[in-house]
Amino acid sequence: MGLTAWAYPLAESLLAAPLPRRWAHCRGVAERARTLAPILSEDAELLEAAAVLHDIGYSPELVDTGLHPLDGARYLRKVGADERVVRLVAHHSCACMEAEARGLLGALDGEFPHEPPELDDALCYCDMSTTPDGTPTNPVDRINEICGRYGDDSLIGTFIRRAEPEILAATARVLTRLSGAKSTAAQPM
Ligand SMILES: [Fe+2]
Repeated sequence: MGLTAWAYPLAESLLAAPLPRRWAHCRGVAERARTLAPILSEDAELLEAAAVLHDIGYSPELVDTGLHPLDGARYLRKVGADERVVRLVAHHSCACMEAEARGLLGALDGEFPHEPPELDDALCYCDMSTTPDGTPTNPVDRINEICGRYGDDSLIGTFIRRAEPEILAATARVLTRLSGAKSTAAQPM
């Protein structure tokens, strides 16, 4: 079975009933991931699978440490998921900074190596360019929305503000690669 054929039903089974809005978000992030196919070639399906699964750690069935990338990645490894999907979920969207704030950086980094930075960038861009309802947005509005929802002084609000420069830099790198791929594709033969 292909990665996405396996990933969608798994994510749906964990999120759709208890957290329908989170499930809509994950589907939107996966949709965004498909737009990056021109810069990912053989890793396009890997990114889409990681995108639809990236927030499963919020599922009430999976919550353990409270660091959702860690809880999601541990679950995925336990059920035998593709190791690259596991690693992308573990480190999605600057998870290391939230892990540090929660005293879980050693666990996250110790258990889960990183995939190449281009893939971490791609998943971060997809997540931060998608609203909680799954519609397209931009990272600036997305970060402001997160701060408004959790509170500026909350652990999440503080973490996401600290991560903001890296999120914006990752977004810029992805968009630069994407426009480069598009202009190459548009070159006359
Ligand atoms: Fe997300």
